[in-house]
Amino acid sequence: MLYVWLFLFSSMSTTSSSLESLAVSQSIQDGKNETLVSAGGITELGFFSPGNSARRYLGIWYINVSPFTVIWVANRNTPLENNSGVLKLNQKGILVLLNGTNNIIWSSPSRSSNTVNDPIARLLDSGNFVMRNGGETNEESVLWQSFDYPGDTHMPEMNLGWNLETGVERYIASWKSDEDPAEGEYVLKVDRRGYPQIMKFKGTEIKSRAGSWNGLSLVGNPIPARGTSARFVFNEKEVYFSYSLIDDGLEFFVYTLTPSGTGQSWFWTTETRTRQVISSGEQDQCENYAFCGANSVCIYDGNYPICECLRGYVPKSLDQWNISIWQNGCVPRDKSNCTNRYTDGFWKYTHMKLPDTSSSWFDATMNLDECKKLCIKNCSCTACANLDVRDEGSGCLLWFNNLVDMRNFSQWGQDFYIRLPASELDHAGHGNITIKIVAITVGVIIFGLVTCAYIFVRKNPGIARKIYSRHYKIKQKIEDFEFQTFDFPVIANATENFSTKNKLGEGGFGPVYKGILTDGQELAVKRLSENSGQGLEEFKNEVALIAKLQHRNLVKLLGCCLEGEEKMLIYEYMANKSLDFFVFDEAKRKLLDWPTRFKIISGIARGLLYLHQDSRLRIIHRDLKTSNILLDTNLDPKIADFGLARSFLGDQVEGKTHRVAGTYGYMPPEYAARGHFSVKSDVFSYGVIVLEIVSGKKNREFSDPENNNNLLGHAWRLWTEERGLELLDELIGQQCLPSEVTRCIQVGLLCVQQRSKDRPDMSSVVLMLNGEKLLPKPKVPGFYIESDVKIETNSSSEDHTLFSVNELSITMIDAR
Ligand SMILES: *[C@@H]1O[C@H](CO)[C@@H](O)[C@H](O)[C@H]1NC(C)=O
Ligand SMILES: *[C@@H]1O[C@H](CO)[C@@H](O)[C@H](O)[C@H]1NC(C)=O
Ligand SMILES: *[C@@H]1O[C@H](CO)[C@@H](O)[C@H](O)[C@H]1NC(C)=O
Ligand SMILES: *[C@@H]1O[C@H](CO)[C@@H](O)[C@H](O)[C@H]1NC(C)=O
Ligand SMILES: *[C@@H]1O[C@H](CO)[C@@H](O)[C@H](O)[C@H]1NC(C)=O
Ligand SMILES: *[C@@H]1O[C@H](CO)[C@@H](O)[C@H](O)[C@H]1NC(C)=O
Ligand SMILES: *[C@@H]1O[C@H](CO)[C@@H](O)[C@H](O)[C@H]1NC(C)=O
Repeated sequence: MLYVWLFLFSSMSTTSSSLESLAVSQSIQDGKNETLVSAGGITELGFFSPGNSARRYLGIWYINVSPFTVIWVANRNTPLENNSGVLKLNQKGILVLLNGTNNIIWSSPSRSSNTVNDPIARLLDSGNFVMRNGGETNEESVLWQSFDYPGDTHMPEMNLGWNLETGVERYIASWKSDEDPAEGEYVLKVDRRGYPQIMKFKGTEIKSRAGSWNGLSLVGNPIPARGTSARFVFNEKEVYFSYSLIDDGLEFFVYTLTPSGTGQSWFWTTETRTRQVISSGEQDQCENYAFCGANSVCIYDGNYPICECLRGYVPKSLDQWNISIWQNGCVPRDKSNCTNRYTDGFWKYTHMKLPDTSSSWFDATMNLDECKKLCIKNCSCTACANLDVRDEGSGCLLWFNNLVDMRNFSQWGQDFYIRLPASELDHAGHGNITIKIVAITVGVIIFGLVTCAYIFVRKNPGIARKIYSRHYKIKQKIEDFEFQTFDFPVIANATENFSTKNKLGEGGFGPVYKGILTDGQELAVKRLSENSGQGLEEFKNEVALIAKLQHRNLVKLLGCCLEGEEKMLIYEYMANKSLDFFVFDEAKRKLLDWPTRFKIISGIARGLLYLHQDSRLRIIHRDLKTSNILLDTNLDPKIADFGLARSFLGDQVEGKTHRVAGTYGYMPPEYAARGHFSVKSDVFSYGVIVLEIVSGKKNREFSDPENNNNLLGHAWRLWTEERGLELLDELIGQQCLPSEVTRCIQVGLLCVQQRSKDRPDMSSVVLMLNGEKLLPKPKVPGFYIESDVKIETNSSSEDHTLFSVNELSITMIDAR
C-alpha cells in the first residue's frame, strides 16, 4: 500500500463519548496551530488560526512546508471564536465540533443508508480525511470523506463535478480573504449546460472558461502541467474533472483559487520543501470570458490582445471596433438566412480554443463528415468540431447562433469549422459569375430607374430641390455625429461673454468656462490660450480625432469653436467639478467613502489604459493630476484634457521634449529633469493620484512631521515599516476593506517607482486592482523633496519649469 495510514482512534462502538485524545482543550496557551493527527508523511489535521485572526478552524495542511499551506477547512463558515473547542466522533461515525459552551458548530454529514460499524477515521497522504466502517476498505464502506467537500484547493484524485444520480455538486470556492476561510466570491465549477465545461464564476457572472474536454485536455488549458495527468469522466452517473500525479520526483501539485479570484498552481518536489508557484494565474486579457464579444477570435501577441472577426463576419459597430472597443463582437456579413443552404460549406480554423459549449449539441458516435452534414441541415447551426481529438478525431459538437470566447494558440488547440455561405468561402470561383450576373441585373435596373427619375424630375422641378435638400441634410447629420463646430456668438452668449462668474478653473492650456446653450444644455468651454502653431484645418482634424475617443472614464469632447485666432474646445459639463475639489477639502472629503474612492481609482486606471493601449491613437496624457479628473453626478471619474499634449507637442510614443508640460508634484523625475516622457510618465502621475486619494493629502503640500518627507516618501516609509494602512485618510475609519486599501497603496507605490521601467503598465495596473495579478514588491519611489535650491533649466527662457529636483534625496530615504 502506497499510503501511510494513520489510526486516528479505534473501537468506537461501545462508549457513547469519544476521542478524548482528540479533544482540543483550554490548555493551549499561545493559540498556535496545533496538530491533532499526522499522516506521518505529508499532511496533518488540526486546529489553526489563519494570519492574525483569533478564530480557530479545523483544517488539513502540509507538514514542514513553507509557507504554511492549508488545503482544506472543515468549519470554514462557522469558526470557533476562541481556543475552546472539542472535536468528537460519535458512534454513528459522525465527527462533531463543539465550542466552549458545548454547542455544535460543525458536523460531518453522513451517508445515512450505511450501517455504521466501528467507524475509523484516517488521514491519507493525499490529504483526504476518510471515515469508514472498521475493518473495511472498499468504496462502499466510506461513511464520509473530506474530498467530497472541497475547499479552495483542488488536489490530485479529488473529483470536481457532479454526481448525476444524487445531484450533489463538488466545486472549489475561494476564501473570503487570507484571514477568513469562509466561502468567498469566486467559484470554479463544472457547468452542465450543453456540453459540460469548467468555468470560473464571480457570483453568477462568468469570469473565465477553461472549457470542455477534448480527450487530451480542457480546450482553454491545452498545455499539460508537468508531472500530472488530467482526466474527465462523463457518463450517466457522473461528470467530473480530476488529475493524478505521474512524476515520481513531484511530491505534490495543487491548484488553489485565491480570494482575489486568481488561480494558482503550485508544487514541490521531494528535494525542496518550499512550495513553488508555477503559474501565478496571471492572465492575458484573452482569458477574460467573451473579451472579444461574439463571433470574434482573441489573438494575444505577447503584449496586447487584438480581436478579429471570424471569416464571413463583420464588426457589429465599426465605429467602436475601429477604436478597439470589441465587446459588441461581430455579425454575419451575409444575412441571407440560409436561403441557399446546400451550397454552404465550412472554413477550417486550426489551433483554436473552442467557443462556449453551454448551448451546443453533441454526439460521441458520429464522425466529422456526419457532423458537418447535420450542421448544414439546420439553419441555425454555425459551427462544428470533433468532440474528441485523439487518433483521427471522433464525435460531434455543434454550435448554434453566436460563437463566444475563442482564442488561438501557437501550437496547441484544435481544429474548428465554421459554416459559411459559398460566396464567403470562394471568392474566385463560380461565386464571381453570380456576382457579375447580379451586377449586370442591378445595373440594368438602376439605369431604368434613373431614366424614369430624370423624366419625372424634368416634369416636376420642385421635386428636384426637395430631393437635393434632403440629401444635404443627411450629409450634414453624418458630419454632426462625428464632430460639431459651434459658432462663436453661440458660445460667447452661453458663457455670458466669458465672464469671470462663469469661470470654472484654469487648466493646463487655458481657462475653462461654464456655458448654457439656449436649449438648456450645459457645456464646459476651454479657451486655449497657447498658439499651437497648427493651422486651422490641422487643428480641426486633430480635435476631430480626439473627439472620436470615447470611454466612460474620459470627458466627452463635443466639438470646437474657431474664430480668428481663438480656438476653443467644448466638453460635456461635469456637475461635481474635479477630484481635487473633493479629496483635499475638509468637508467634502467625508463624502468620499472608501468604495467611492476605490471606484475612482479603478475608473481612472481604465480611462488611462484606454488612452495608452486600447484607443487607436495611443495617447500619453502628460498632465494627469487631480484637477484633471472630473466627477460626474455619480462621482464616477472622467479624465479631462487628454490628447492636448499630443496636439500641442507632437505625438511621439516615447520622446524627449524641451517644453515640460506637466505639473509639479505629478511629474516623474526623468520627465522633470530631462524631459523624457513615455506612457510610464503617466503611470507615475497616476500613482501619485492614487496615494493622494487614499490619504486625502496633496503630495506637493504634504510634509510629515517626523521626517519632513513628501507624501511619496511618507507612504514609502510607512510601507517599509509595514504600517502602510496608516496612510489611509483618518476620515474613512473602519468602513473599508483593509486588503483593498493595502492593494491600492501597493499599486500606487509600484507606479511611482524611481526607474520608469520598473513601473507597471496600465493593463497590469487594472489587473492588479481587480486582484487578478500578483503584486510585486515596490522599490524606492522617484520623488523629490522640496529644497531651498531651485534648479532651473537655463537652456532657454521659454522653459517655464518651476520645479526643484533633488535626486540625491532618493538615497536618503531608504528606511532600512
Ligand atoms: C498557523 O497558521 C497560519 C495560517 O494559515 C500561518 O500563517 C502561521 O504561520 C501558522 N503558524 C505556525 C506556527 O505554523
Ligand atoms: C472562550 O470563550 C468562552 C466564552 O466567551 C470563555 O468562557 C472561555 O474561557 C474562553 N476560552 C479561552 C481559552 O479563552
Ligand atoms: C458557541 O456557539 C453558540 C451557538 O453558535 C454561541 O451562542 C455561543 O456563544 C458559542 N460559545 C462560544 C464560547 O463561542
Ligand atoms: C474603420 O477602419 C477601416 C479600416 O481602417 C476604415 O475603412 C473605415 O472607414 C473605418 N470606419 C469608421 C467608421 O471609422
Ligand atoms: C431567418 O429564418 C428564420 C426561420 O428560418 C426566421 O425566424 C427569421 O426571422 C429569419 N431572419 C431573417 C433576417 O430573415
Ligand atoms: C436546429 O437545432 C436547434 C438546436 O438544437 C433545434 O432547436 C432546432 O429544432 C433545429 N432545427 C431543425 C430544423 O432541425
Ligand atoms: C492567431 O492568428 C493570427 C492570425 O489569424 C496569427 O497572426 C497569430 O500568429 C495566431 N496566434 C498564435 C499564437 O498562433
